[in-house]
Amino acid sequence: MTEIRVYPDSQALARAAAELVIQTSAEAIARQGTFSLAMAGGATPRDTYELLAAEDYSPRVNWWKSFIFWGDERCVPPDHPESNYRMAQQTVLDHVPVPAEQIFRMQGEIEPQIAADIYERLLRVHFATYRTSQPVEHTFDLVLLGLGDDGHTASLFPESEALQAQDRWVVPNYVSHLDNWRLTLTRSCINAAYQVVFLVSGRRKADILRQVITEDRSQSDQGSQWPAGLIQPEAGKLVWLVDEPAAAALQPENE
Ligand code: 6PG
Repeated sequence: MTEIRVYPDSQALARAAAELVIQTSAEAIARQGTFSLAMAGGATPRDTYELLAAEDYSPRVNWWKSFIFWGDERCVPPDHPESNYRMAQQTVLDHVPVPAEQIFRMQGEIEPQIAADIYERLLRVHFATYRTSQPVEHTFDLVLLGLGDDGHTASLFPESEALQAQDRWVVPNYVSHLDNWRLTLTRSCINAAYQVVFLVSGRRKADILRQVITEDRSQSDQGSQWPAGLIQPEAGKLVWLVDEPAAAALQPENE
């Protein structure tokens, strides 16, 4: 089930995203006693993360029962300006009482394949312990994702090797046009989540959002020509939270 919710601007989008995290965490904790979240990188989630640290939002998350992961990471040290972990640490994790032993960053500072193997084992142990079957068997309770203007998500870039990794949950991915290495959850790992939410903001995402949302997948044996289009949770929910500038190409012409 795919749902698209459109908000007037980026701040309204951030408020809605923060409320969705709060609601999803409460439902997960009521269901199974824990909440496992995979955080998105990039710039779009910053406003949402800052709200989650604010006094009118933070107390509404049971941080003590929350486990924090990442959808992807740049292969840089955790204090590097490009680090997704650093962005989450500065915007929310340093300001809320989530136990440090429940924060699991991808080790961007070590050899990519070793870092991917370590994170894969960590996830498999975590979900062997906390994976539940209510109401469906799943891994993360919530995965937050962004959308690149080339249709990438997490660090699943078009025509990159990571797209082919079906039996792995975490892989290293060399991104040739950026000439750098990334660590990323695979499409099969993300699609095993209970809920996946894309956060998309800004006019520059309008065309790719329209292409991903409206493409005719029946013509492609890959399921989609866009990595973001391959995100179809097997038994979970897929929600797009977008602002009006990003949705500009989605609105019917006559509106
Ligand atoms: C990353 C993200 C990446 C991001 C998109 C959108 O590490 O950069 O995982 O997939 O979500 O590139 O980025 P913006 O939100 O900055 O547009």
